[in-house]
Amino acid sequence: MDKMIIQGGTSLNGEIQISGAKNAALPILAATLLSRGPNRLKNVPKLGDITTLKRLLEKIGANISEENDGCSIEVKSIENNEAPYAWVKTMRATILVLGPLLARCGEAHVSLPGGCAIGARPIQLHLDGLEKMGAEINIEHGMIHAKATKLKGAVIHFETQTVTGTENLMMAATLAEGTTTLGNAACEPEIVDLAHFLNQCGAQIIGAGTETIVIHGVKSLSGTNYEIMPDRIEAGTFMLAASITKGDLLLKKCNPAHMGSIIEKLKATGSEIVIEKKSIRVIGKEIKAVDAKTLPYPGLPTDMQAQFMALMSVSDGLSVVTETIFESRFTHCAELQRMGADIRLEGHHAVIKGVPHLSGAPVMASDLRASACLILAGLVAEGQTEVLRIYHLDRGYESIEKKLSQVGANIQRVKGDL
Ligand code: EPZ
Repeated sequence: MDKMIIQGGTSLNGEIQISGAKNAALPILAATLLSRGPNRLKNVPKLGDITTLKRLLEKIGANISEENDGCSIEVKSIENNEAPYAWVKTMRATILVLGPLLARCGEAHVSLPGGCAIGARPIQLHLDGLEKMGAEINIEHGMIHAKATKLKGAVIHFETQTVTGTENLMMAATLAEGTTTLGNAACEPEIVDLAHFLNQCGAQIIGAGTETIVIHGVKSLSGTNYEIMPDRIEAGTFMLAASITKGDLLLKKCNPAHMGSIIEKLKATGSEIVIEKKSIRVIGKEIKAVDAKTLPYPGLPTDMQAQFMALMSVSDGLSVVTETIFESRFTHCAELQRMGADIRLEGHHAVIKGVPHLSGAPVMASDLRASACLILAGLVAEGQTEVLRIYHLDRGYESIEKKLSQVGANIQRVKGDL
């Protein structure tokens, strides 16, 4: 397994181009199952999770051809309506094919995703919503067997805001008979991007981005050309890289309008931030200790929590980071402690006392954003840091070592034997 080797201590200066959003590209790729197509998708990031989903869509019946910054995809017919465990265990977001398959061909067999490092991550809300739309759902041997001759519009209220739950049901409702209302829907920008794509295909979705989404079912959808939105979490991660190394980075092709909570939080720590329409410049200055609490959008994203903890571990005082979305998203703390961070965990809270410097060490990535946290810590630690199991990182960051090296980081990927 590959690993990343980082010599800490250089400040990052220059420009980085942000890639397309993984968590918008995944549901939009799944949504191509809803029509015969053809679709031309641009700004699709080259990531492990995207490749996994494309391979699964081809098994289902999609014809996909790669283009320089995206792909063409059409699904003339559904050859196979199954997503077995082998696929789902490598990527939970495979669950996003459930709604579209059910809407397109009336039957789907998708493995129940297990938990992962950050929590149990149940998907019952997806299944409850599909049942309300008339689907017959049976679970046997770890597989979800779903059937529906024709999905019917329904009024669905989510007990908890769920991003992929909102996406799954929004996709299923586009071809249902009648109108579906999603209450307490998630409001993330990636859901708005998916709705834009679907409406361009002929769907009738109103209110995406708010807590109430109304979908009027239509007979069929067509394909379309679409450019995926920029990745706000990749951009946020590089913003913190500028701050933690006291550098000066200009992040291009991003959308500051999606990043209010990250921008405000970083300003509070003392970084200077210059916002343009499609770019953000971050100049790292002091690193003040600031409390942070993750919340559903537009609050501070849980996907930025680990990265923010790396920054607070070298702040000038005491801060408390509270994780409200997932029940065990602190696995990166033990690795930061091995680098000299002073962190005490108390339930959903991490109490962090900033230290003058971290020291480089071999550390283990446990999930996608924990890997990013350890890269940030390595950039500022004294000496060498080895981040192992970086297959986690490759799932969500396109060529991160290339992007960081171009702005001065001393980082290289090494073919690992472990
Ligand atoms: C999406 O995951 C993202 N993944 C995650 O990003 C992100 O962390 C998460 O939303 C929260 O923003 C994709 O979009 C592919 P949820 P998702 O359903 O949809 C509970 C990354 O790093 N819940 O919004 O799986 C759940 O346990 C990944 O890119 C139920 O209880 O998250 C959690 O506590 C990590 N029952 C909360 O809701 C359900 O049926 C939010 O989860 C569904 C969810």
